[in-house]
Amino acid sequence: MKITIENLQLRYGKFTAIENMDLEIGDHESVVLLGKSGCGKTSTMRCIAGLEEPTAGRITIGDTVVFDAARGINVPPNKRNVGMVFQSYAVWPHMTVFENVGYSLKLQKLPKAEIKQRVHEVLELVGLESFASRGASLLSGGQMQRVALARSLVMRPDVLLLDEPLSNLDARLRDRLRIELREIQLQLGLTTVYVTHDQQEAFALADRIALMQDGVIVQMEEPSAMYTQPASSSIAHFLGVSNVLPATSRTSGDFALGDGAVSISATGRRPAPGATDLSACIRSEDIRLSREGAAGVNSWPGIVRVASFQGSSIRYAVELPGGTHLDVLAPLAAGVRHSVGESLWVTVDPTAVQVLPQTAVDPAVNTAVAA
Ligand SMILES: Nc1ncnc2c1ncn2[C@@H]1O[C@H](COP(=O)(O)OP(=O)(O)OP(=O)(O)O)[C@@H](O)[C@H]1O
Ligand SMILES: [Mg+2]
Repeated sequence: MKITIENLQLRYGKFTAIENMDLEIGDHESVVLLGKSGCGKTSTMRCIAGLEEPTAGRITIGDTVVFDAARGINVPPNKRNVGMVFQSYAVWPHMTVFENVGYSLKLQKLPKAEIKQRVHEVLELVGLESFASRGASLLSGGQMQRVALARSLVMRPDVLLLDEPLSNLDARLRDRLRIELREIQLQLGLTTVYVTHDQQEAFALADRIALMQDGVIVQMEEPSAMYTQPASSSIAHFLGVSNVLPATSRTSGDFALGDGAVSISATGRRPAPGATDLSACIRSEDIRLSREGAAGVNSWPGIVRVASFQGSSIRYAVELPGGTHLDVLAPLAAGVRHSVGESLWVTVDPTAVQVLPQTAVDPAVNTAVAA
């Protein structure tokens, strides 16, 4: 079911947690709210669920307006048909898995046979069918999280909200459950809003990512577009671009790094003329090191300052003229290893350089559902 958020604002006293948010989530769509701790992700979820009363704006789920500040509409959480799974497992330890999952259906006084059938259906979906009679306190973290998920799904919600549901689990289990969650979401065609501060998780689970900073959605995009076309240097940095180097514009497509000792050419994205507060953003894996070379466009002499072994690759810190340091990730398979103190040549393709403003000037944010 579609969710439409219009002009949402949430204040805690004088502090603004969400500012003028517009967001449209399509039927069956999986949108991930991604952003640093404290940027307003949980607050947004709580507003959709009805656990928080926004100071302004409107929220519509399907055709029902569930909140409208201007008209004084505020549908209580239990009437919104929204399922929620939180970071803490929140299962009842004194009940069995079956009782945990069936509890809300029992409160609704559904016939026993129907409860049994629905509980077994969802337990099968989350891979816990053989655990039905197990006491919930005897489960592992990953199993408890599946119980929490089953408990939401059994209510057949129109919308599923997941707030960092995997963050208490170890890395391998998190990877596996992430894929399972995506499968379940696609299989049931559920509209989901998923919150995380982990970009890998966002890339894996999202149809579209809404990137939040300080209570505002600053970019909304499909994962691959978000990865290749961040709207600002702060977004690039958040998405793992490790070289974010202050730059000033010289001529069109040419920029000076740091004190000007190094020129860099960018045919990737370039800022609007006159834009200030620019940074050249380069992914560490896009930079090449070699023993042979010559000065030229995006080819500079450098000195290796740090070399650290990372398994399948080596990470180098390389100093350029003028003191600019580059973070370079070189695959071990390339065969050549450089040592600390070595002089070498550093090159980067101009298409791999994006010069971006610190904050998106005109965040060409497309928060509406694609037609
Ligand atoms: N009840 C409250 N009273 C006052 N401030 C609050 C309250 N709840 C949240 N905040 C503040 O609102 C901001 C957004 O909080 P929120 O919980 O939405 O962040 P988040 O993006 O979910 O962060 P995290 O990744 O750490 O969970 C934070 O600065 C937080 O301190
Ligand atoms: Mg949170």
